[in-house]
Amino acid sequence: MAEWETIQGWLAEAERVVVLTGAGISAESGVPTFRGAGGLWRQHRPEDLATPEAFARGPRLVWEWYDWRRARVAKAEPNPGHLALAQLERRVPDFTLITQNVDGLHQRAGSQRVLKLHGDIWTLHCLGCGLEETNHDVPLREIPPRCSCGGLFRPGVIWFGEALPADVLRHAMEAAAHAQVFLVVGTSAVVQPAASLPLLAQQNGAKLVEINLEETPLSAQADASFWGKAGELLPRLLEAAVKP
Ligand code: OAD
Repeated sequence: MAEWETIQGWLAEAERVVVLTGAGISAESGVPTFRGAGGLWRQHRPEDLATPEAFARGPRLVWEWYDWRRARVAKAEPNPGHLALAQLERRVPDFTLITQNVDGLHQRAGSQRVLKLHGDIWTLHCLGCGLEETNHDVPLREIPPRCSCGGLFRPGVIWFGEALPADVLRHAMEAAAHAQVFLVVGTSAVVQPAASLPLLAQQNGAKLVEINLEETPLSAQADASFWGKAGELLPRLLEAAVKP
């Protein structure tokens, strides 16, 4: 297991860095995670709210839940973890941030190149005409929202049982396969295909570094795992890498 200073050195020297984030990085901003204590999947069953079948059965119920989540996210601010990653992007020549989060907090922290594996909670997708629209209304003006074509809007996120956007996944896999350092932050690493990206990177020679509150299925394989809050650990770990 590599030491803290060694990892700081890897991150400071690497020219190709990929970071994969999950709900844990936004936890300190007040956005609930999915699993674990207080997680969304403790209070609701995913199949009731986050599948195409659930939406077909009850678009109003699904939209009420997303309206509530959008309100939570709208009140949240990026935390030092998001900000440290935005700084890292400015220093590393070939940097890719892959996120499973739909909250947009990385972009608000200043990250420019973000691969959104699971979509965006601020995007609406019309089931009638296919229009994609950015919408920041909190609360929504009508539930369920409708497109000007009369069609029903669905949230522009990926649900269970749905394929990820092919081009986004392809870019993520390419970046992973070329990374020198692959940093995984705040994900339980149980949802595929996101969870396989760190291993793809490691098989192709990347050092795999994890930050989480607790062990995950990746921990046994990681070159280093650091246990603690992303908002506290990331700025310290990246100190040397983002130094002007
Ligand atoms: P999870 O809720 O499954 O996992 C959050 C992880 O973050 C856990 O491993 C926590 O230990 C860790 N964690 C919590 N607070 C933290 C903190 N302050 N600092 C560091 N780590 C912290 O969230 P994801 O792994 O993102 O998919 O979940 C993956 C996908 O499952 C989501 O994108 C969503 C969900 O169902 C879809 O909606 C398609």
